[in-house]
Amino acid sequence: MLDLALRMVFCALLCSISARASGCPLRCECSEAAHTVKCVSKDLRSVPSGIPGYTRNLFITGNQISRIGPESFKGLDNITTLSLSNNRITKVESQTFSGLRSLRSLDLSSNQLAVINPEAFTVPGHTLRELNLSRALYNHSSFMNLAVSLRWSTLGEIRTLDLSGNRLIYLPSHTFSYLGGLRRLILANNSLVALHNGTFSGLDSLEQLDLTLNALRTVQEEGLAELASLPPGVRLLLGENPWTCICGMEPFAAWLNSSQGHVGDAEGLVCAFPSDMRNTSLLRLAAGQAGAGGDGVELGCHRVGEGADLALQTSYVFLGIVLGFVGLVFLLVLYLNRQGIKKRINDMREACTEMLEGYHYHYEHDSDPRLSQVSTTADI
Ligand SMILES: *[C@@H]1O[C@H](CO)[C@@H](O)[C@H](O)[C@H]1NC(C)=O
Ligand SMILES: *[C@@H]1O[C@H](CO)[C@@H](O)[C@H](O)[C@H]1NC(C)=O
Ligand SMILES: *[C@@H]1O[C@H](CO)[C@@H](O)[C@H](O)[C@H]1NC(C)=O
Ligand SMILES: *[C@@H]1O[C@H](CO)[C@@H](O)[C@H](O)[C@H]1NC(C)=O
Ligand SMILES: *[C@@H]1O[C@H](CO)[C@@H](O)[C@H](O)[C@H]1NC(C)=O
Ligand SMILES: *[C@@H]1O[C@H](CO)[C@@H](O)[C@H](O)[C@H]1NC(C)=O
Ligand SMILES: *[C@@H]1O[C@H](CO)[C@@H](O)[C@H](O)[C@H]1NC(C)=O
Repeated sequence: MLDLALRMVFCALLCSISARASGCPLRCECSEAAHTVKCVSKDLRSVPSGIPGYTRNLFITGNQISRIGPESFKGLDNITTLSLSNNRITKVESQTFSGLRSLRSLDLSSNQLAVINPEAFTVPGHTLRELNLSRALYNHSSFMNLAVSLRWSTLGEIRTLDLSGNRLIYLPSHTFSYLGGLRRLILANNSLVALHNGTFSGLDSLEQLDLTLNALRTVQEEGLAELASLPPGVRLLLGENPWTCICGMEPFAAWLNSSQGHVGDAEGLVCAFPSDMRNTSLLRLAAGQAGAGGDGVELGCHRVGEGADLALQTSYVFLGIVLGFVGLVFLLVLYLNRQGIKKRINDMREACTEMLEGYHYHYEHDSDPRLSQVSTTADI
């Protein structure tokens, strides 16, 4: 038994020594010429040790890694591209990547990040340019963690942020305010329902905003103002949203027509609802609203508007009748009760007189000391 254990220890030692000798961790492929190490789908539970110092591109993807920390990447200061995609990472600790002083691209896509430390993505020298968190966030709490981290990790130099496939429903305002250098923001394949004031504030260098495959039914005035506040020349992608072509949609359709140059997929935007409008181009809708004729499609909102006016008028007439009736009843009650009213007024007058008399008496009584005081001062 002891012999077996000894042998196993010896073997393990030998293996690690041989791995080191060849300069490549077990279950990984290393290419010194390409400065690249790949450990792909090897059932690894943690970041292997012994990754050579020349490594610039490190891919540890499709494994079972559940935790990473600052100690995972000791001595790897030449790494520029790190992919940990498709693992089971649940937590990113403070300063996890702070040893990677050349890191430019970090891919954590397809993980289950539940906890993200505020300083998780701090990289000395602010070299990080690309952060991929596609399908990486476990739930909305992790997104709130991330929002804090985007602020505290000083990512002002980051260029690309991929947040696709995270089931995001709502983006708090100022989430991206600290990413002044961001050029590409990918929010595709989420469940965003609206764009609010401040959602994209601070994105002063933005060039592309991808909102495809979300849950947008229309963009309200507030959202249109927000889109208008983006830097000029930004390219928007809005396809595959459930655009709902009912009254109220006109401002968005008109905006779309006037912003065709900015919306990369404007031609392809179609109504998803109601069913008789399905596949109707939103641009044709805009033409219909302006009464441009041709192949424009009308929403028929004016007629509905008139109907609403009529309903409003009817309700005013009804209100008038009711008020008139109430007034009549009031007068009738007054008339029938005129004797009682006269009596009550008389009663009230008497009560008032009594009260005034009582008051008068009190006044006289109270004024006595003052009078006496005045007389004493007069004596002096
Ligand atoms: C990083 O690369 C440089 C030059 O390519 C090399 O001199 C240095 O030793 C490398 N760093 C490590 C930790 O191996
Ligand atoms: C992020 O990762 C996903 C999945 O690994 C990939 O499809 C996507 O292209 C990446 N995003 C960027 C901006 O490279
Ligand atoms: C997100 O997941 C964490 C860990 O399971 C849990 O504590 C938290 O309550 C969840 N948050 C939401 C909003 O579901
Ligand atoms: C969208 O994201 C979900 C996960 O949130 C993923 O399962 C699905 O494949 C993604 N769809 C596309 C078209 O990328
Ligand atoms: C958006 O919010 C800012 C303050 O944060 C305010 O000054 C501005 O008027 C708001 N715009 C709209 C359209 O509500
Ligand atoms: C809408 O267009 C898609 C593809 O362009 C097509 O597959 C679908 O049948 C169309 N639906 C209707 C209701 O026309
Ligand atoms: C659509 O935009 C063009 C200019 O891009 C303008 O000439 C046209 O009148 C607009 N049409 C509608 C219906 O607003």
